[in-house]
Amino acid sequence: MVSADSKSITAPELKPHPCPDIRVLDRERFNLTITCRAIEVPVKRCTEIVKLIDRTDSIFSHLQHKPRFVQPCEEDSSRKLILLDDNQTLPFADNDISERSVDVKLTYKNWSASQIIRAILPPSIEDTLVVSGFEIVGHIAHLNLKECHQPYKSIIGQVILDKNPSIKTVVNKLNTIHAEYRYFEMELLAGENNLITTAIEHKLKYCMDFSKLYWNSRLGTEHRRIADLVPVGSTVLDMFCGIGPFALPLAKKKCHVHANDLNPESYKYLLKNIEINKIKSQYITCYNQDGRELIRNFTGQIDFVLMNLPASAYEFLDVFVGLFSKREEGMKPPTVFCYHFADIEAPKAFTIAAISDKLGCTIVPEEVHLVRKTAPKTWMTCVRFTVPESVLYSESRNKRSSQ
Ligand SMILES: C[S@@+](CC[C@H](N)C(=O)[O-])C[C@H]1O[C@@H](n2cnc3c(N)ncnc32)[C@H](O)[C@@H]1O
Repeated sequence: MVSADSKSITAPELKPHPCPDIRVLDRERFNLTITCRAIEVPVKRCTEIVKLIDRTDSIFSHLQHKPRFVQPCEEDSSRKLILLDDNQTLPFADNDISERSVDVKLTYKNWSASQIIRAILPPSIEDTLVVSGFEIVGHIAHLNLKECHQPYKSIIGQVILDKNPSIKTVVNKLNTIHAEYRYFEMELLAGENNLITTAIEHKLKYCMDFSKLYWNSRLGTEHRRIADLVPVGSTVLDMFCGIGPFALPLAKKKCHVHANDLNPESYKYLLKNIEINKIKSQYITCYNQDGRELIRNFTGQIDFVLMNLPASAYEFLDVFVGLFSKREEGMKPPTVFCYHFADIEAPKAFTIAAISDKLGCTIVPEEVHLVRKTAPKTWMTCVRFTVPESVLYSESRNKRSSQ
């Protein structure tokens, strides 16, 4: 196989010509004509012959849109051309069939987004830094570009938009995160400036303004894990509920959920999502207050407390110290799921130590689950433990009774 500039290329090298000088997306720059091996066959035998040709390792495998393997024969309408790889041996010999070459034109449409982005970025940028992945929330793709991508960011955004028909908006997450509400500042790279979208997780719909509240599509498995673990009928306090990805599935399975978030935008969309997903009001009560207040003011049995604010959830654990003033018949201590960012060297010990320190006693966790690696040296963990009675009835503070 020979490229347009007569340079011989082999299968794994099939890629567009590098063009690191471009600053606006000129799609014509990705045209490439290659000369391909082909066989010319009678039209009436084409289907039969195509079936005999192995395509498992085609030179076109890595293209987003592969050219047609069967092409018209311009010189003779009673014959067709079937493309072959350079090293392909034919499993048959036949007088009807003749071998020849044919020019195949590849365009911007054929290449994958990562092949185009590789061609745009200077060769000095390592392959590992080529933007090949991104996260999707509804119609939004969000990227985490590095310094070296800055001159190319608009083109990268446009390529992602072009290559993914369901994406209408491409944004880049900037390094500033809202300290309390945990959402990122973002810049628009390409497409519509519309950050109100709907994500679907485990068949529930979550509408949100992605620029004003926290949402992470990578937590879907964790949301499901908790929904599966908590028994039907339990009373659950979700202290930092966001727009409801723990709270809604739990309410749907008939737990009694008290869902709270301090961010007014999260609260607004939480209410909307309850409506959209037709969650029965008897199973969910919503609050827009500080998580501590939710615990302090709650009366009655709490079976589970969810604390998904890994950067600082453990700081809130002091709310359990002396929470109950007197023992009540049948009242059981709550089980807490507390999330934490822990050092990769010893994430479980690190998490237990932080929590024990805050509660003033060594906890015996029922489980320390590694949720996901969030940075090269950090695990997001979730520790499940029952709050010791010595903590709940401690005399150092009596929060519930002081209300
Ligand atoms: C990491 S997000 C988790 C949201 C949700 N649980 C999820 O899994 O998508 C933490 C949430 O805690 C909320 N938050 C932060 N400080 C809070 C506080 N003091 N009281 C209640 N909510 C708070 C933020 O607004 C944010 O929505």
